Amino acid sequence: MKQYYLIITFLIVLTTSIIMYINKWRSGLNFTNKHAYFLYLKPKEINSHNDLITSQSQFDIVISYYSEDIDYVAQYIRYLRNVSNLKKFNPRIIVYNKNSKINNEVLKILLDADIIQLLPNLGREGATYLYHIIQNYHRIANHTIFSQAGVEGITNNGLANWYLDRLENQFNSSVGYMPLVNNHMITTYDCGLHLTGNFPRMVQMWAMLQHSLCPPGGQAVAFRGQFLVSRKRIQNRDLEIYKYMYDLITANSSHWLHRDLRSLFFKSTPDNPIFGHTVERTWTVLFKCSKPDLHDRCERRECACFDES
Ligand SMILES: *[C@@H]1O[C@H](CO)[C@@H](O)[C@H](O)[C@H]1NC(C)=O
Ligand SMILES: *[C@@H]1O[C@H](CO)[C@@H](O)[C@H](O)[C@H]1NC(C)=O
Ligand SMILES: *[C@@H]1O[C@H](CO)[C@@H](O)[C@H](O)[C@H]1NC(C)=O
Ligand SMILES: *[C@@H]1O[C@H](CO)[C@@H](O)[C@H](O)[C@H]1NC(C)=O
Repeated sequence: MKQYYLIITFLIVLTTSIIMYINKWRSGLNFTNKHAYFLYLKPKEINSHNDLITSQSQFDIVISYYSEDIDYVAQYIRYLRNVSNLKKFNPRIIVYNKNSKINNEVLKILLDADIIQLLPNLGREGATYLYHIIQNYHRIANHTIFSQAGVEGITNNGLANWYLDRLENQFNSSVGYMPLVNNHMITTYDCGLHLTGNFPRMVQMWAMLQHSLCPPGGQAVAFRGQFLVSRKRIQNRDLEIYKYMYDLITANSSHWLHRDLRSLFFKSTPDNPIFGHTVERTWTVLFKCSKPDLHDRCERRECACFDES
């Protein structure tokens, strides 16, 4: 019996690795959509255009962009701007472009973004979010949506039902943390252990953040790094924590952290570090919304942890 279990686990890990490899390969050939050509027009000085963030806003939407289908991302942004429960906050769209071949000015126009900045292609979306938090820690918006550009949760005529329901009906000004992924992307880890693959560094992250050993009973994890978080929850953690995580997630290839293993096919590199996948699974702990009933609460359409007012 135990052997069957091991074989099945091995096959799951193998299949996941292969799918991830194919996706990575496919994303390199993303030239099909009608506006993509303009994106690669050479700027006068290489990516001279970088907007500064100087003021605080009520609501920010932070998007990490690399080479995702531009029309798709523009549509996603239009959908977000059209959510009536958010309109009153006049959300600001902040796009971090991690592709130095792309012309920031064109990207800004095509996405109708308010602010655009170039970042080095390090540490996946986790590094982008940590960078935003570190740079704006003292003037961070009341609420921020952090999202990958290759979002799941949009349809041809608007946000998917579950996504719209969270923002229109479940979000209010006392939300502290809310995952913005489909319920099947929310699960429970047992101190870094999970059927889809283990992340031993999650135990260390728990210990560092909670000042205790990782307890049994499970910790909620929402995959993909898409969530909404309040200023209170961000500032509830010291700036130093974010800086430390940022240093690790952007570490160069000679750093010992890249010796971590995930599977046969997965090599940790600065643009796709295994630690980036650990951070993806750690936001719930960082923002104190990791009770194992999160998935069930999301099923019941109570998909958030609330701040005390
Ligand atoms: C904006 O949302 C409304 C419903 O609130 C919908 O009728 C309309 O089609 C949406 N517009 C766009 C451009 O998504
Ligand atoms: C946003 O935060 C500011 C500063 O704490 C506060 O004055 C304002 O009322 C907040 N806005 C909302 C909509 O809660
Ligand atoms: C937000 O919703 C929660 C859950 O329904 C509720 O407990 C809280 O009072 C609400 N906060 C505000 C400001 O409406
Ligand atoms: C990598 O980072 C370390 C520590 O910051 C530094 O000493 C080293 O020179 C860097 N190596 C490369 C190849 O950039």
